[in-house]
Amino acid sequence: MLVEVRPTKKLRGSRALNLTACLSPIVDALCEDSLDLSRLRLVCDWVQYKNNFRDVIDVRPILSPAKRNGRSAEPDGEKLEIAVDLRRCVDSDLAQVVRDVLAGRIEPDGLERVYLEAWSEGTTSRIWEFNSLYWRFLGVWEKATGRLYEQALPGGESDARNIAGVHELIREMFTVWDDLASHNALPDELYVIELGVGNGNQAKTWLDEFAKLDAEHGSEYYRRLHYMMCDYSEHVLALARKNVAEHAAHVSSFALDATTPMTALGFLRYKVFLVYISNVYDNLPTEDVAQIGGHTYRAEVRAYVPKADAARVAEEFGIAPDKLVGAIDKLLSLGPESLVDALSSYFPDVARAAAFWMQVWDAVKLEERYVPMTGLDLYEIAPGVNGEMLRPMLERHGDVRMQVSNGAIASFVDTLPLLHPYGRLQCHDIFVTDPHQYRTGFLGPGKYDGSIVNWVNGPLLQHIGRRKGFDVGYAPFAHRAGTNIVTLTAQVRD
Ligand SMILES: C[S@@+](CC[C@H](N)C(=O)[O-])C[C@H]1O[C@@H](n2cnc3c(N)ncnc32)[C@H](O)[C@@H]1O
Repeated sequence: MLVEVRPTKKLRGSRALNLTACLSPIVDALCEDSLDLSRLRLVCDWVQYKNNFRDVIDVRPILSPAKRNGRSAEPDGEKLEIAVDLRRCVDSDLAQVVRDVLAGRIEPDGLERVYLEAWSEGTTSRIWEFNSLYWRFLGVWEKATGRLYEQALPGGESDARNIAGVHELIREMFTVWDDLASHNALPDELYVIELGVGNGNQAKTWLDEFAKLDAEHGSEYYRRLHYMMCDYSEHVLALARKNVAEHAAHVSSFALDATTPMTALGFLRYKVFLVYISNVYDNLPTEDVAQIGGHTYRAEVRAYVPKADAARVAEEFGIAPDKLVGAIDKLLSLGPESLVDALSSYFPDVARAAAFWMQVWDAVKLEERYVPMTGLDLYEIAPGVNGEMLRPMLERHGDVRMQVSNGAIASFVDTLPLLHPYGRLQCHDIFVTDPHQYRTGFLGPGKYDGSIVNWVNGPLLQHIGRRKGFDVGYAPFAHRAGTNIVTLTAQVRD
């Protein structure tokens, strides 16, 4: 049996975790079972997100490489991964949890789960429908909770609002523009794009400071500025437009998917001096891949609601248990406002529909299984990005599991062609910068209110950017102490 304990930092210090107390009931319960212990992995994380998709103990079948072309979803004999959340161990009767989980594995009904989907790739799971629902109906959610989404971000507000950070960025742009202007090479129109604008607070900060610094600088760059706010949520775009109303003459807004910016913005190819992104890459669809015992797997997922939670929610809203999934389907396709028209007997007003949404989301969990990959060369990370790019990361670090950050990579590679040769992409986010972090930390997914968060695979993004002729650098966000936020800068290589 292989035991992997990732949060090693938690094992020392005055509040050290009692690892043996956590593990011994688990190992005892595993030994009671008839499992082939030699084919078992016991992996321990510290899931720091209070709201997440995991149970205290999950079981993940590891399918046989020999079966990869077959449609069999059977585990390879007893090859299993048992995943433990050490943060919640102290509060649970672990031996009993293990027995229940193993009983559920053998007797599927014992799993007590209401599934929302069939097995799917991580990027196409229905959890992403919940994620986009949140941004489309952010106002409904914020009204129900009485708290703004920014409060859930690391630090309680977006670092893109940090004035010192914004000044540094703008001054560096002025230096580039002054230089181009002195060679008569500065275009008349100065384009800046922001992807994923949220409530527009950071756009406002950026535009206010730009206008102020430009007045001091005396170059009339503000007069030539076009700031393009982009988001897939009409709701947040409307909020953002209101927020930057005093800059209206310099701002346009585009409803577009951040993973395919060229579809709407292709006319700006090679013209954009700054693509500005914060806290968006960590919110784009991703799946996990893993290297286990010399084989490469993708982690397939299946969203479910535990039966006890499903029964509680159904009862509270007067829904027959077998109609619950149908009501969730309607919520996801129509949104909470139209749900009131469609299912008025359960949801007399938007507040009740919002309460239903929040309770379901709170209960949604992910079951996982490892499915062998047929070959990295046959895997597409994002349109035009071959899975071979993953090879250096997967083959040099032993058994490892990581996010592919498919959505972030799609966005990144579809943004690079927009950049002016002297332009840059700047992105503040939670980036993994060293593959070793995958061996020591839990990097998602977690739930931030109604949205999903996953750390972004920085080394992979860097590798892909370099192959496309860009320098991609990471630096800890310089203007707030103790933050996990890292700033990515990508520029055409000199
Ligand atoms: C966490 S907020 C960040 C907002 C802002 N940049 C900040 O730092 O506060 C994420 C934003 O990305 C947007 N977003 C998420 N997925 C998107 C996608 N696929 N296409 C476009 N926008 C997306 C959301 O609508 C939301 O406005």
